[in-house]
Amino acid sequence: MARNPFIIGEIVQGKHFCPRPELVKILRQNIDAAINTVIMGPRRIGKSSLVFEATRLEKNHKLLYIDLWGLNNREQLTTAIYREYLNFLSTQGSSIKDILKRFAYLRPVVELDENTGKPKFSVEIKEDQRTPTTITEALELLGKSGEKHKLVVCFDEFQQLLTFPESENLMALMRSTIQRLRTPAFVFTGSIRRSMHEIFLSLKNPFFKSAEIIEVAPLKKNDFYKFTQKKFQEDNRNFPKETATAILEISNGITEDAFQLCSSIWNITEAGETITEETSRTALLRILAQEDSTNRHLFNLLKSTQKKVLYGLARSGGNAPTSKEFLKSSNIPQPSSVSTALKRLTQLDLIYHHDGEYKFFSPFFRYWLLEKSNFQV
Ligand SMILES: Nc1ncnc2c1ncn2[C@@H]1O[C@H](COP(=O)(O)OP(=O)(O)OP(=O)(O)O)[C@@H](O)[C@H]1O
Ligand SMILES: [Mg+2]
Repeated sequence: MARNPFIIGEIVQGKHFCPRPELVKILRQNIDAAINTVIMGPRRIGKSSLVFEATRLEKNHKLLYIDLWGLNNREQLTTAIYREYLNFLSTQGSSIKDILKRFAYLRPVVELDENTGKPKFSVEIKEDQRTPTTITEALELLGKSGEKHKLVVCFDEFQQLLTFPESENLMALMRSTIQRLRTPAFVFTGSIRRSMHEIFLSLKNPFFKSAEIIEVAPLKKNDFYKFTQKKFQEDNRNFPKETATAILEISNGITEDAFQLCSSIWNITEAGETITEETSRTALLRILAQEDSTNRHLFNLLKSTQKKVLYGLARSGGNAPTSKEFLKSSNIPQPSSVSTALKRLTQLDLIYHHDGEYKFFSPFFRYWLLEKSNFQV
């Protein structure tokens, strides 16, 4: 069997990236003009991949990617910036010796990557010394480098900043430094929408209006169809347009879920086969079966009203969860209990509120609930 061409759960680019011509164009223009940009969008829609692909297409630009996931404070962030910067320099032809010498104050340690054989730096920052090791200096270093190299600096999972001690001071400092720099182009992205809103759309936050916002929407039907059809066609599998439409509907426009479904379809079909809407439903059932024990475990952690609300949302949609009809059909006496449950389910990242509606983070989880409609809730 030919190799499954669909990649799930990793940042994708190049031939694995389903085209998003409009968004890529805007982001490339911003990169070119060193306009700072925020990439907003729901979870797993393809925000990080968009940044990688747009930078890749800007042939002269290099991406310096700083992932804030798992970082807890200012020192760790500063360290991450320096570390990525040294790694970047070594890809630009600076010799290991030069880097070690020039940045001796960062106590750099270098190892060779087992797989690629390329050098990998780590650094250690000592706060007490009179050396350029603060966050401001790290950002200024990027600024200086941006004048020499064409550089895109992406802070991913940027909302993590909100959890740092003294985050407001830190954000004010970062904002004012970044504002002073003419280059590089900074791109901010993050997977928790409400926190990204808090940073970039709240008046009281220093980052308010500091960057242009690009919203990543679901893939366009035609782009998705053309891309997917080609992948299936390469192995002589027939993929009609209606199936592409059905997949986007089932996955509620969440890119990763759409491709998870494609991947599952690939695994249950063969060369020469026609992939029908029925095939995509079979593939969905297969995914639900695979995820059954995890979902069951998750569901059992919830309180009774939370279960009822979640189930009600799955069944009747999320635009009026405190309406009389919703309360009645979900067998909940008080609208206030619904509000409390909605809050908790939001905190647990099972649902989110957008455009006046509560939606499931995972469309497959919703199907799973509907499949298990005989639950005792
Ligand atoms: N343009 C694309 N073409 C093909 N697959 C894509 C595309 N964008 C996203 N995907 C799929 O979605 C997955 C998640 O993509 P990515 O990590 O870029 O999303 P994200 O919005 O940054 O996610 P998170 O909210 O978790 O940070 C990828 O592993 C891939 O399966
Ligand atoms: Mg991401």
